[in-house]
Amino acid sequence: MNSHQIEIVEKTAQFIQKKFEGEGTGHDWHHIYRVWKSAENIAKTEDCDPYIVSLSALLHDIADHKFYDGDLMEGSRQTKTWLKEIGADDDTIEKVADIVSRVSFKGANVKDDMPSIEGQVVQDADRLDAIGAIGIARAFAYGGNKNRSLYDPSEKYEMHESFDAYHKSESSTIAHFYEKLLLLKDRIHTATAKKIAEERHQYMETFLEQFYGEWEGKR
Ligand code: ADP
Ligand code: NI
Repeated sequence: MNSHQIEIVEKTAQFIQKKFEGEGTGHDWHHIYRVWKSAENIAKTEDCDPYIVSLSALLHDIADHKFYDGDLMEGSRQTKTWLKEIGADDDTIEKVADIVSRVSFKGANVKDDMPSIEGQVVQDADRLDAIGAIGIARAFAYGGNKNRSLYDPSEKYEMHESFDAYHKSESSTIAHFYEKLLLLKDRIHTATAKKIAEERHQYMETFLEQFYGEWEGKR
């Protein structure tokens, strides 16, 4: 990255840190920070532009669809406004805004398209943060915030066919494992992230086994 690019990335990091300070729904600054750092690390193992990766990672949750009633384009709108304001070039703005509009998980049976390698790196980093120990913690934090039950043994899991259905779902947090978290390891693009995802996936499987055992009073 040249010095102009480094400055744009630093300004964006400060802006996002300020905006997300005190967020408690799983989209806090610490989530963004982890995705940023892990995307940088994955980027080192891929043939890609680290400038686009860093900016997209920092901006990927700028407009949480959960607060914009499922409007996936709000993030790219806010991304464009911000990057224009600080003087990024048009090509960068287009690339980053496109990645931001595509990065979210949209339901088990919804095909997601991420054509650029930079977008794939950021999506991998975001998905890694939704699984493993941190993923488990984030899921229960989210469920608590939404007043969801931990688990409902009579519940049927739903493989959502549309983003709207997924977005409106009120499943228990354990159901969310089947509706999203356990599916992520097979939706990773890069070899580096895939290796990490396998380990984190195994950790969630172990957690679920222990959870069901305790639920029945058997452990
Ligand atoms: P991302 O940052 O991966 O785009 P989301 O905006 O969908 O994720 O959600 C933020 C966090 O909250 C993630 O860790 C996600 O798994 C969790 N989460 C989202 N929906 C639910 C749900 N229905 N139940 C429990 N956790 C959820
Ligand atoms: Ni995210």
